Amino acid sequence: MKNITVIGVGYVGLVTGTCFADMGNRVVCLDVNEERIAHLKQNIMPIYEPGLEEMVRRNVSASRLSFTTSYEEALNNPEAPAELVFVAVGTPEGVDGEADLRYVRAVAESVAEVVDHPIIIVNKSTVPVGTGDWVADVVMHRQANAMSFSVVSNPEFLREGSAISDFLNPDRIVLGSLDRSAAEAVAQLYFPLRAPIMITDLRTAEMIKYASNAFLATKISFINEIANICEALGADVKEVAVGMGYDKRIGRAFLDAGLGYGGSCFPKDVSALTHMANVQGKHPQMLQAVMQINDDQRRSVVSKARELAGGLIGKTVGILGLAFKPNTDDIRESPGIDLVHMFQEAGAVVKAYDPVAMLNAARVLKDVKLCEDSYDLAQGCDVVVLATEWNEFKNLDLDRVRREMRLPIFIDGRNLYDPALMYGAGFVYRGLGRGYGQVTANGPTNNHSARNGASQPVVNWNGRNAAVARK
Ligand code: UDX
Ligand code: UDX
Repeated sequence: MKNITVIGVGYVGLVTGTCFADMGNRVVCLDVNEERIAHLKQNIMPIYEPGLEEMVRRNVSASRLSFTTSYEEALNNPEAPAELVFVAVGTPEGVDGEADLRYVRAVAESVAEVVDHPIIIVNKSTVPVGTGDWVADVVMHRQANAMSFSVVSNPEFLREGSAISDFLNPDRIVLGSLDRSAAEAVAQLYFPLRAPIMITDLRTAEMIKYASNAFLATKISFINEIANICEALGADVKEVAVGMGYDKRIGRAFLDAGLGYGGSCFPKDVSALTHMANVQGKHPQMLQAVMQINDDQRRSVVSKARELAGGLIGKTVGILGLAFKPNTDDIRESPGIDLVHMFQEAGAVVKAYDPVAMLNAARVLKDVKLCEDSYDLAQGCDVVVLATEWNEFKNLDLDRVRREMRLPIFIDGRNLYDPALMYGAGFVYRGLGRGYGQVTANGPTNNHSARNGASQPVVNWNGRNAAVARK
């Protein structure tokens, strides 16, 4: 059992602290946001993360987990002086894509000024390569009392919406430090998880995080590039991804084409890595292309809508899904939020709905009708765009959606639906890379006989005859 302090109770810090407590450690979580700490003391969660509320409640009542805004209380409790201090404050994108480290600096300075005994400082936040050395300098120069300390990099690999499961079932633990014994002390915390533990140096550990996220983002932009080619050549990218995924060297994960990536990690991490490379005079062409393709995916959806609706000025567009992915309320860099702004700029009237993220969305959206559910959203729409693959969007009552809409244009930004099913329900359907050439309300014309106007049954991509498209 160790005495752990976690600084920053955001998406990463709160999950990290709670899981360490659940593993039997005594954890104090600190945040400068007083309202956030006050809510946590009443078991009100600042974020939506499946399973978190119950785990927090269980560990607070077992006196393994507590919350404070005081650095003195968080670090120097005489009965349980902090042994390891995890830094999990935000590292948002700054100027030119460079990671903004002001919050990491603030934490390092506060720790240096307050702590009255030796500690191990553990960087959990995603920080540019070399930050570990920099944190050590900041602490050294700011210390009120000359205390020995070590710095360890321990990057997080948590996906929002599955963060607890990802923490408790990691593919690997990465640790980096110039002090091997400090890294081994951190490693011990993770022994109960029985996952591979890798100990390397500080800069290599920091780079593993960026390279991992940049690779995952690259995989997404790769399949989106393939989707764009599929769209022109009449192949279905969903089937292509299945065929590719059987190859163990490729793997099926992160090959879902669609609106592209968002969130608080991929966009800022790819941007930060590109900045680091540029500062060193390297030319990260691939990373530049990954970001460009990702931006283009959102624009292509607006173009499709404009083409199908015969212009967007005065048209009503509904955005289904505002969180950047399902099972979270996080709207940071969310494609759904970006699309709201892009359609407004194009002159459309915009409606929006999300099962969970409406509170966060209401804080950033203006002149948008925020709806009660998918059908309220569909009412009067000329175009509906599915932006986030929430489970409740996967089996919509299509006849009801169609009846509510003014025009039947449905753009499936996450390729959830079978085009033939949508044609059969009377929609003018567009996915991203779903394998059709010229499309009419009667369904795809990649079936040659249909090209001459014969009303053939729509043959969908698995060779099954779908229902004959409604005239
Ligand atoms: C984390 C990591 O910090 C980031 O590097 C990684 O890429 C994504 O996950 P996240 O948990 O999403 O970021 O940060 P956020 O949700 O913004 O929470 C950060 C918390 O730190 C906030 O509650 C904020 O109030 C707190 N904070 C910030 C402090 O306690 N002290 C500060 O000085 C600044
Ligand atoms: C990511 C990394 O997965 C995690 O390891 C890291 O610690 C933090 O960043 P997160 O951003 O929470 O996690 O979600 P993730 O599930 O990775 O999705 C990121 C974005 O990519 C989302 O916008 C998602 O919609 C998109 N995505 C994901 C795709 O567009 N296609 C895919 O196949 C997978």
